Amino acid sequence: MKLTILGGGGFRVPLVYGALLTDRAEGRVTEVVLHDLDDSRLYAVARVLDEQASAVPDAPRVTATTDLDEALRGADFIFSAIRVGGLEGRANDERVALAEGVLGQETVGAGGIAYGLRTVPVAVDIARRVARLAPDAWVINFTNPAGLVTEAMSRHLGDRVIGICDSPVGLGRRIARVLGADPKQAWIDYVGLNHLGWVRGLRVAGRDELPRLLADDDLLGSFEEGKLFGVDWLRSLGAIPNEYLHYYYFNREAVRSYQQAEKTRGAFLADQQARFYEEMKRPDAAALTAWDRTRAEREATYMAENRETAGAGERDADDLSGGYEKVALALMRAIARDERTTLILNVRNQGTLAVLDADAVIEVPCLVDANGAHPVAVAPLPDHATGLVCAVKGVEREVLAAAESGSRTTAVKAFALHPLVDSVNVARKLVAGYTDVHPGLAYLR
Ligand code: G6P
Ligand code: MN
Repeated sequence: MKLTILGGGGFRVPLVYGALLTDRAEGRVTEVVLHDLDDSRLYAVARVLDEQASAVPDAPRVTATTDLDEALRGADFIFSAIRVGGLEGRANDERVALAEGVLGQETVGAGGIAYGLRTVPVAVDIARRVARLAPDAWVINFTNPAGLVTEAMSRHLGDRVIGICDSPVGLGRRIARVLGADPKQAWIDYVGLNHLGWVRGLRVAGRDELPRLLADDDLLGSFEEGKLFGVDWLRSLGAIPNEYLHYYYFNREAVRSYQQAEKTRGAFLADQQARFYEEMKRPDAAALTAWDRTRAEREATYMAENRETAGAGERDADDLSGGYEKVALALMRAIARDERTTLILNVRNQGTLAVLDADAVIEVPCLVDANGAHPVAVAPLPDHATGLVCAVKGVEREVLAAAESGSRTTAVKAFALHPLVDSVNVARKLVAGYTDVHPGLAYLR
């Protein structure tokens, strides 16, 4: 089984490879092809993978290339984890938005739109090539903004592209843990868009345990979302929102603390990772140790500004292990070996949420087997959540239209219609600011 990783020089590739190394079963991945535009990043990551594999017999063979078509040919699975414009691009997404007083986050608000506008044309090019060169491959999209990018690719690949994110899984795991339930035995009633979803129930042996959590101050305040949103707000919602909804429900505070931060998240990661890739150029550097140190620091500081405004303190040790690679591996195994499982994934709606059309990519529990991911019917969202989901999906559609037509006017419309952008004038300034700093937006005319 051949797995191609696009963005193969990316920092999180060793997480994926580490997960592959734990898979000893028949039909596992035996060959990994790393693709990246940047040779030195490929070299750096290959060094880490090499150290990871050193003690493991029959570790998947790793090769690296900068030729995209060569990387795609013959692939059974393709992981797409690219970052168009790099972390400097992410830092610029944040800076331009914050200068206008609006949120510049990687996936939410103005920053997410800018990142989407840059990424969609590249993702579409990849999807077209996959359709031509590896039509039977399954594409697992990690590239953010993951819901939007998955939808862009699905227009060319149909249900052969599936988007993944670890945040709903992490949320479900945390809720199960505080309730004393085994996350594997729990049915998590979650739905929305990527980074915009809500847990409305958690069923164990047919019983919804969420009311018990919502009724208990101590339990509710004891985990990440309880600390971030506060017990009163969770109780008002009657649901547990994805952590990214903090940017909506506490937008002012989030914007202010991002403005005041010494470095934005993107700028912090750009510096941190530049140091890692620089270190990897030294032949005597201990690659795996350096990578692991950098990873631990990244995980410990995740959403630090949000937690600070909420007075949430440090992250729980249990939340630091990520899970993104586990979702990817579980999905791949279910498809490759027809090991039926349920995972929260980004797939086409197909009638799941009646307010959205069939092709809208949503984030929802899916049954996965050799035929792919099939969304499970869920109860409708309450009006306030439906409103947000529809507004943001509307914005995503404008982003897709702008990327297809190259229309600057449509790009302005995308920013202006976002619930976290409060003026058409600001939207115009954002488009001007972003096209100034991003060469990847030169197509907007
Ligand atoms: C979460 C999100 C991902 C995001 C990741 C890393 O896991 O679901 O979409 O890529 O965090 O965030 P960071 O700020 O460390 O890049
Ligand atoms: Mn995510």
